[in-house]
Amino acid sequence: MQNPRDNQRDIAIITDDPGWHGRQLTEELRQKGFQPHYVRLQDCHFDIGQTRPYLRLANLKHYPHGVFVRGVPGGNLETVVYYLDILHALEAVGVPVVNNVRAIEKSVDKGMTSFLLSQQEIPTPNTIFSSDLHYVRAKLREGLSAGKKYVLKPLFGSQGKGLQRIDSIDQWVNYEALHGVMYVQEFIDSGHDVGVDFRVFVVGGQVIASMRRTGVDWISNVARGAQVEAIQVDRDIELLAVNAVSALNMEYAGVDLIQDARGKFWVTEVNSVPAWKGLQQTTSTSIVSAIVDNFLAHCDALSVRK
Ligand SMILES: Nc1ncnc2c1ncn2[C@@H]1O[C@H](COP(=O)(O)OP(=O)(O)O)[C@@H](O)[C@H]1O
Ligand SMILES: [Mg+2]
Repeated sequence: MQNPRDNQRDIAIITDDPGWHGRQLTEELRQKGFQPHYVRLQDCHFDIGQTRPYLRLANLKHYPHGVFVRGVPGGNLETVVYYLDILHALEAVGVPVVNNVRAIEKSVDKGMTSFLLSQQEIPTPNTIFSSDLHYVRAKLREGLSAGKKYVLKPLFGSQGKGLQRIDSIDQWVNYEALHGVMYVQEFIDSGHDVGVDFRVFVVGGQVIASMRRTGVDWISNVARGAQVEAIQVDRDIELLAVNAVSALNMEYAGVDLIQDARGKFWVTEVNSVPAWKGLQQTTSTSIVSAIVDNFLAHCDALSVRK
């Protein structure tokens, strides 16, 4: 491929399922004078030679001006590492990638997210994260006897899929589904019969929209049928969300927070590839416009630095 930014107008949107979000990004980028292309990581190839690393991005003839990551497909360890290699290689040749690849790596991994949040002293629920089933069982027994409740999450899960709630010692737990690494988090009781949490959307270090999600059961993802309503978060919560995003070094992110029955807020997730369809229903601010403006500014800033 030619040098970075041979084509200043091309933008690659990494996705294999563009849908509503892909269309929103495409329309917004076109309106701003850019030429978006959907690119599947499955259609990218390395062809490494003597002179320089050669990386082909699907049908693109040149490296694009920037890469917006809308999704990284799942797969076995080798496949996922390979997909991330492609994004790392793009950064290595000077193509801006949003969110940056390290941030995506850290945030799809719930264990690393919890570790980094707590390292930066951002309140996040107590979590056991281990590959030792005996250790996990012993800790669970101890906590459950003391009246705590837990949530077991797949390490790379999203959209509320595969979560298991553990309320008692006798309960059967499907450890098999976790591929050898257990992520067990203390359940935060919000004091409601169903799951209620908050999604705060941060772009370029600022909160641009927030909503309260009320689940049909204890899981309050929009993908699981949660009802959403706009809310105005106060300055402390804004700061908490902005700090969480900055702890993971993201350009933009969807932050999930739960308020416990005593009123304290806990960050449960920082999503580096967040959906915004549900949130857009609650606000007249154009979320895609904020995301794209921030993305293009980031591409320009990296351009100048080179
Ligand atoms: N520690 C917790 N205590 C209570 N509810 C939780 C906890 N963690 C997650 N949940 C519920 O499950 C939902 C999904 O959890 P989350 O960690 O955001 O995973 P996902 O990546 O699947 O969205 C949250 O939006 C919340 O409703
Ligand atoms: Mg979530």
